[in-house]
Amino acid sequence: MAKAHCFIILLLCISKSLILCDVLCEQGFCATYVNDPGCSSTAQECSINNATHHGLTLPSPTICNCCDYCLPTFNEGAHCSLGGPGTGTTIGRCGDGLTCIAEADGNFCRRMNTTCHRDQDDYDARHLAGETGELEERPSCDGKGKYDVFSCVPTQTCFCQSEDGERIFGEAVYLGVETKRNMHCRCSRLHEKIKKNLSPGVPYPVVGPRCTPDGNFHPIQCIDRKCYCVDTVSGEIVQSTTFVNLDETPLTELDCYDADLDLYPEQSRGDPPYNLTTPCIEGIQDQIDLIQQSEEEGYNVDFFSTVQGCLPDGTPTRIVTSRNRTKICVDERGEQIGNYQADPNTPEYNNIDCKCARTSHIMSTSSEKPICCSNGNFRKIQCRRGMCRCVDSDGRQTEMEQSDVTKLSCYTADWRTC
Ligand SMILES: *[C@@H]1O[C@H](CO)[C@@H](O)[C@H](O)[C@H]1NC(C)=O
Ligand SMILES: *[C@@H]1O[C@H](CO)[C@@H](O)[C@H](O)[C@H]1NC(C)=O
Ligand SMILES: *[C@@H]1O[C@H](CO)[C@@H](O)[C@H](O)[C@H]1NC(C)=O
Ligand SMILES: *[C@@H]1O[C@H](CO)[C@@H](O)[C@H](O)[C@H]1NC(C)=O
Repeated sequence: MAKAHCFIILLLCISKSLILCDVLCEQGFCATYVNDPGCSSTAQECSINNATHHGLTLPSPTICNCCDYCLPTFNEGAHCSLGGPGTGTTIGRCGDGLTCIAEADGNFCRRMNTTCHRDQDDYDARHLAGETGELEERPSCDGKGKYDVFSCVPTQTCFCQSEDGERIFGEAVYLGVETKRNMHCRCSRLHEKIKKNLSPGVPYPVVGPRCTPDGNFHPIQCIDRKCYCVDTVSGEIVQSTTFVNLDETPLTELDCYDADLDLYPEQSRGDPPYNLTTPCIEGIQDQIDLIQQSEEEGYNVDFFSTVQGCLPDGTPTRIVTSRNRTKICVDERGEQIGNYQADPNTPEYNNIDCKCARTSHIMSTSSEKPICCSNGNFRKIQCRRGMCRCVDSDGRQTEMEQSDVTKLSCYTADWRTC
């Protein structure tokens, strides 16, 4: 909201002179303006805010945004005017997840037809028929009908997803409403956007802002050797932040330094220069340097097959191939998780995803960890407190649980061993 405010002020100011605007909007201008000529009354929907009457409070389209403004939002099935304010009798817009559709007898707010909404409808129909499981969550969609920032397996973990419902980097232990409050996945989604929109035209892996393992922004970001604190949700610089120059001062001097998030505390110890890097990111830099050197010497190097990126938190990808070509599930330090691995020329090798190994690693202290296959994938049948359920490759329940495993649609005789 503050941003929208600023933006509108700026627009008004460009048409006048900047200096005039500063003076105009800062020196008690609004106090005077609100009294004379005064604000016009706003739509009452924002102040009522019940199930049928609600709206969005916005900065008013008045000079310096002195007044409040209320844009009413309409419920499903309500009349709406196509074309926005000014073209119809009512000014307002359809509420979250709704869109204005022209029909034979007028324009009405209808639910957007999106994949996420269709997923919800699917769930709702099965729920009505009593076919949903205890650990199944109704898909959650945002105001535009796209997928919400994360998806959860109750009792296990939540993980970030793209607007299209595709799983992306970022996973944290399931904490119910606490997760909703803490997990925003904005850093993780930004990386996804960078990867999709930017990377195809760039020869090297793009190193975006650093994320924490849950997909939020890392509280410390650096530009070259200069580091500062940011908001972990928005990634915006914290107003009161101090700056450190790593050539003189370690990161530990920053207010937002969090030892729990620092996998490499030795980089802040001893004599300067100090660092904020990871072996994976350093490895990439070495590879890029090598490629650049080869190019200068006239060799033609295939970038994409040679440089492997790091995850948004700076750690290596969680599936590594060892010298003898065995694929191994590893943790954030590159150490093997449990015994999870797959040898070449086996079915386990071809579909290895290590998702269960990672979830079980994140839930390290829990007594209700999922059962994984030998290659670290989720076993398709999981059991808990005497009931068994079918799960997808992310561990999410897909149908009603049964006390008798043979009644599950995913049952096979070898279910115990994957
Ligand atoms: C919401 O408030 C309006 C105005 O006070 C009232 O007419 C309407 O019945 C209320 N709706 C609900 C669902 O309470
Ligand atoms: C929604 O879109 C899908 C795919 O585009 C289509 O098959 C379906 O008929 C649409 N549903 C409605 C209610 O318009
Ligand atoms: C930081 O990196 C530089 C260059 O790689 C290295 O010489 C220095 O020892 C590092 N500092 C610390 C404290 O690890
Ligand atoms: C490859 O090495 C790993 C240990 O790094 C070992 O567990 C595995 O059995 C080896 N695979 C083969 C095919 O030799």
